[in-house]
Amino acid sequence: MNKHPALVALVILSAPAAAQVAPANGPQLAIAHRGASYYAPEHTFFAYDLAMAMDVDMLECDLILSKDEVPVCIHDTTVDRTSESSGAVDSFTLAELRQMDFGSWFNADAAKADYHDPAYAGAKIVPFEEQLDCYLRHNPRMRFHVETKDSAGGRAEQVMVDILTRKGLLATGDLDNGNVQSSTVMLQSFDPGSLERMRQLTPTIPTAFLTSAPTNEEQAQWQANGDGPDYIDAFAPNSAALLADPTAVQRFHANGHDVHTWTVDDPNQIDLLLDMGVDGIFSNQADVIRARVDAHGTGTTKEDRGNPTDFARGCPGVAGRVTSNQGPGDVWEPTGTRGVKLKKAAALVAPAQNYASGSGVVMGALDWGVLAGLLCAALFGAMNRRGH
Ligand code: G3P
Ligand code: CA
Repeated sequence: MNKHPALVALVILSAPAAAQVAPANGPQLAIAHRGASYYAPEHTFFAYDLAMAMDVDMLECDLILSKDEVPVCIHDTTVDRTSESSGAVDSFTLAELRQMDFGSWFNADAAKADYHDPAYAGAKIVPFEEQLDCYLRHNPRMRFHVETKDSAGGRAEQVMVDILTRKGLLATGDLDNGNVQSSTVMLQSFDPGSLERMRQLTPTIPTAFLTSAPTNEEQAQWQANGDGPDYIDAFAPNSAALLADPTAVQRFHANGHDVHTWTVDDPNQIDLLLDMGVDGIFSNQADVIRARVDAHGTGTTKEDRGNPTDFARGCPGVAGRVTSNQGPGDVWEPTGTRGVKLKKAAALVAPAQNYASGSGVVMGALDWGVLAGLLCAALFGAMNRRGH
C-alpha cells in the first residue's frame, strides 16, 4: 500500500503529457459549460438557447437555492459578478432574483466586445425547473449536468430530489448497469458529501466528483487508484490534471468510471483529451467542442442528439412560470430508451420581457387559448371595476 498518496499525486500532476489514444466508455459528450457562456451571459436563456443551437449533448446548471429554496442556475454564491445587484444568492427570494439584470455585466465586459448584444440587458435568472422544462420541450433527449455549488446543509440535494420526483425525472436511466449517460439528469460536485447525500436519497441519479487537485490524502488515493467510494459514478478532474496524468482516464475506466473534464476551449487540448478517451468535456465554446467531437467521429449521432434546427428562443410560455419549488412545471416520463416524453404539461404563461432575443415565438393553440382566457378574465374584471 502506498503511504504517500499526496506525493504520488504531486508526481502524477507534474509529469509531462504523452500522447495517449484510448477509447471512451461510450459516445463522447459535448457539455455546454454554463450554456454557450463564451458568447452570451452565462446561465441565461440566451446562453442555453445558443448551446442548443450549437447542438450540444448536455447543458450545465450550477445550482444554488434562493432564500425561499427555489433552485436557480448561477455559478457564484453571490449575484455580484453576474448582475447589477449585490448580495448572497440565498438572501433573495426567487421573486427578488427575477427583478435583477443578469445580462448587462456581459455587455460591459470589454473582453467580450465581439459578442455584445443589447438584447442581453435585463436577462433573467433561470430556475432549474425552467431550464429542465424549456429544453426538454425543445428536445426530450437533452441531458443536464447539475452542480451543487452550495448544499445549504443538505437542503439542496433534498429539494432537487423532490423536484425531480414531482417531475418524473428521478429515474430516467439505467444506472444499475453503470450507464451514467442514460440519465436525463446527473449530479456533479466538488464536495463528496453532496454526492453521498444524493446517493442516500436516491440510487438513480448518477454522480460525478469534480477535482482541481486532490484536497486530501484520501482523494489523492482515489485519483492514484482510479477508484473511490460507491457513491461516485464518474470522476471529473480538471483538464490540466488529466493532461499531466496521461493514464488517469484508463485507470478510472478500468474501475468502471466515466471521466468528464472541464473547462476546455482550446481545440488542441480538446483533441488530446478526446484521444485519451474522456467521456465528456465541458466547454464555454459549445460550437468548438461540438466540432472537435464530431471531427473525432466519437460523439453521439445526430439522431441520438435530437436537437431541433430551429426553435423559439427564450422559452416563451415556460420562462417565468416557476414561482416556488412546487412549480408549476411539466411532468415527464421515461420512454424506456434514452430520453423522456411529456406526460402532463403545465399551463404556459405570457412571455416576459428580456427572456427572449426577439426571434419568433411559437405556441400551440391550446396555450394561446389559456392566454386568451386569462386576458378575457382580466378585461371583464376591469370592466366590472368601472361599473359596466
Ligand atoms: O462543473 C465543471 C466546472 O464548471 C467546475 O468549475 O467553477 O466552473 O463550476 P466551475
Ligand atoms: Ca460547474
